Amino acid sequence: MMSTEGLQAMLDTAVTAARQAGRLQKERLWGEFTFDFKGEVDIVTEVDRACEELIVSRIAAAFPGHSFLAEENLYADGDPAWRWVIDPLDGTTNYAHGFPWFCVSIALEHEGELTLGVIYHCMMDELFTAVRGGGAFLNGKPIRVSSRKPLRHSLIATGFPYDVARGNENNFRNFFELQLAARGVRRAGAAALDLAYVAAGRLEGYWECKLKPWDVAAGSLLVREAGGMVTNHKGEPHRIGDHRILASNGLIHEEIEALLERAEKSAPLL
Ligand code: IPD
Ligand code: CA
Ligand code: CA
Repeated sequence: MMSTEGLQAMLDTAVTAARQAGRLQKERLWGEFTFDFKGEVDIVTEVDRACEELIVSRIAAAFPGHSFLAEENLYADGDPAWRWVIDPLDGTTNYAHGFPWFCVSIALEHEGELTLGVIYHCMMDELFTAVRGGGAFLNGKPIRVSSRKPLRHSLIATGFPYDVARGNENNFRNFFELQLAARGVRRAGAAALDLAYVAAGRLEGYWECKLKPWDVAAGSLLVREAGGMVTNHKGEPHRIGDHRILASNGLIHEEIEALLERAEKSAPLL
């Protein structure tokens, strides 16, 4: 059983770590930094690594024994009942090119249930937080998903996987169907921020394929706590290990689901 004080201490630690990592990201953006290739186009910068080290060491110091699933490193096994899921810098391609759209994403699972989520967008000084059953907040003020519908009047978002030129699941058919049906589709390059924006009512929906747990853990809790829906592409409840996600205000969910189904049955575009 988790006390309210215990949960607040975990949230405070996650917020402090996210803000510190965000400060580092802001200071180093547009400066010199090294990067390595993880794949043909997929890179990791020294800032991603420095942020992960900062976040994990701060949380591990406050909660020794907890376990970690983070993007850039493997960590020794800890208590599986408490697992922090961390994307130290979501939007690395943007970051490396000086395109100021990226964030820190930190979530905590307790006994397999998402319990808290923090997303920090340093360039806008926007801190999105959620605790399970406690609502979602932006800089301390409650947020709700939008009440806009139908899809024709909605702004939605997506992203494409790094192996878009090679993989069979490149999201092009989905993009084609949804771009034709929605008011607009944005492709900004940071999955966690797309989810935070659905939670804040700035986007009506978001879908993507081939995501990792750290891309979606904090953001999916935010959307649910803001009154939205988070599923896979078939409308089944989304778990953070699922690669496909569909998040929305709930009002346009079925419309998007139907178009994703139609796209899946159509001929490949590449
Ligand atoms: C990526 C971003 C991007 C999404 C990719 C992710 P990274 O994460 O969230 O928006 O389209 O699928 O891998 O590599 O910048 O942390
Ligand atoms: Ca990511
Ligand atoms: Ca990342």
